[in-house]
Amino acid sequence: MLIHIPDVLTKQQVADFRAQLAQADWIDGKATVGAQGARVKQNRQLDVNSPIARSLGEIILKAIYSNPLFMAAALPLRTVPPLFNSYEGGEHYGLHVDGAIRLIPGSNLSLRTDVSSTLFLSEPDEYDGGELVVQDTYGSHEVKLPAGDLILYASTSLHKVEPVTRGARVCSFFWTQSMVRSDSQRNMLYELDASIQSLREKLGDCEEVVSLTGHYHNLLRQWGDV
Ligand code: NI
Repeated sequence: MLIHIPDVLTKQQVADFRAQLAQADWIDGKATVGAQGARVKQNRQLDVNSPIARSLGEIILKAIYSNPLFMAAALPLRTVPPLFNSYEGGEHYGLHVDGAIRLIPGSNLSLRTDVSSTLFLSEPDEYDGGELVVQDTYGSHEVKLPAGDLILYASTSLHKVEPVTRGARVCSFFWTQSMVRSDSQRNMLYELDASIQSLREKLGDCEEVVSLTGHYHNLLRQWGDV
């Protein structure tokens, strides 16, 4: 399941990010990928330890952890510091699946990648190509979102980035370990939560809504690990 989360960053924040990223030193994107990925990956990234990546990454983490839609969809336990990439002049990233375990830089901690996020920092009309294509059990989905919007998808999905044939596609991307390992259980909780929210708006906190809310938390207790 792909979930579109609009307005994670404001347009002003996006403009500030872009101004800082324009001054940054970009390195070969193969630095953060395993052997299969390295064969198909062609782009540039910021060094994860660079001051710009760290400070912008902090802003993104604050934004997603205060975003109700992200929280409901990802049920995050922890998230790696966000990375930044740029594609231009035909750069692309062929079909791959993200590595299952990632070391959190500067720590001894690792996390399991359950949920992948791409946060768009370029407007769609700034570049041609560059669609994120995600394959799941419902088929193949092309994603190209307004700057400031985020797409969230299961890290178990095969995906690729199409060649950018005009302009530059700048994004942030990162992985989250969810409290709920299973994609299908996480999706059920997300849909149940959305239904409860909608019912609450229509009916208020009637007995049935309170009861369903209890079931939501009891399922999370069954399926969640912290
Ligand atoms: Ni990937």
